[in-house]
Amino acid sequence: MSTWDEEIRQRMAAIRKQGRLRESITTGEAAQPVVVREGKRLINLSSNNYLGLAGHPAIISAQQQGAEQGAGATASRLIVGYSPETAALEAQLATYKGCEDALIFTSGYTANVGVLSALLRRNDGVFSDRLNHASIVDGIRLSGARPYRYRHRDLNHLEAQLKEADRLGIRNRLIVTDTVFSMDGDIAPLREIIHLKEKYGAALMVDDAHGSGVFGPEGKGTAYQLGVADGVDLHMGTFSKAYGVYGAYVAGKKEWLHYLVNTCRSLIYTTALPPTMIAGITTSLELIRQGEDLRRDLAEKSSMFRNQLRQAGFDTGESMTQIVPIMVGGSDQTLQYSRLLSERGVLSVGIRPPTVPDGEARLRFSLMATMKEQELQESITVIVDTGRELGVI
Ligand SMILES: Cc1ncc(COP(=O)(O)O)c(C=O)c1O
Repeated sequence: MSTWDEEIRQRMAAIRKQGRLRESITTGEAAQPVVVREGKRLINLSSNNYLGLAGHPAIISAQQQGAEQGAGATASRLIVGYSPETAALEAQLATYKGCEDALIFTSGYTANVGVLSALLRRNDGVFSDRLNHASIVDGIRLSGARPYRYRHRDLNHLEAQLKEADRLGIRNRLIVTDTVFSMDGDIAPLREIIHLKEKYGAALMVDDAHGSGVFGPEGKGTAYQLGVADGVDLHMGTFSKAYGVYGAYVAGKKEWLHYLVNTCRSLIYTTALPPTMIAGITTSLELIRQGEDLRRDLAEKSSMFRNQLRQAGFDTGESMTQIVPIMVGGSDQTLQYSRLLSERGVLSVGIRPPTVPDGEARLRFSLMATMKEQELQESITVIVDTGRELGVI
């Protein structure tokens, strides 16, 4: 008999004891502002469907038409999985982002893991904000490069680490950062990071998962909103959030991307996105480009929501986007808060370690442009009343 049953039992007991047990709960109508869980309707403050496009009829219809070309891509892009539609979408994306070229990946996770592990080698140095997404952390680990994790948005710490790498003679240096931090809703100081990257001869990769489609002219992204897009060497973003579909892209110089086609294992050794997804993303990109009204609605609703929670006494950290956390502290209390909200008609998932640092468990709310004013007001009342009851405020 193997040792595994006992081993897994013990590991699960430890997870339970730490208050870190996770469960998947079936949720219907997830693309909508109001979802269904266990037969109950809940106001959806938990999805990344920021512009509401996951439920857009034009995208769904494009996906249905796409399916006429086959249910799947049938192979990796280097075998027969690279369709003319994929090539056309990559060309459009490159022009849209003002870059020489663009590559489509099957997800944001595989893009980050693959790109970082392909780009970085053992003797290279990588500088990563401590709150970067797990896929960046995993890509760095896999690369074997020398990791420097700088304190969240701390430019002095980043500079000290760049100096240290310089002293050690580490030649190739890459700074990598989320643009919008997924659990905090704050924004990386890209202009200042670019200044440091130039001073120390590094390159910069940004993960714009939560800014793509949401910020900048035509939704081009956070770096475009800040007017610093040219200072970024690799722009990564996802189609799984504001685009409402699935998949991811990386845009940058032609030769860099050609290098990735040759070396990136998560691009080479996996089946390409199916035609339905390529068709859906292509239509979503058009809607995103024309989506100024949706972006304005999202920004207005987010700041109204955040201001009301702040006025009620919540700590929303440095949030300045559609992602608004409220700090709770302990994992158990966070879970209890989330459970009570759900009983009272509001869906907000408690975020606990290891996703966030110890002692920083929180509720993470994410807004949608298509939410009704009344839904938002109703949820604010429930959040505030429950927060008072639990002594969070
Ligand atoms: C900052 C960031 N990068 C990457 C990802 C992964 O993207 P995807 O869900 O498309 O795999 C996420 C999503 O959870 C994210 O928040």
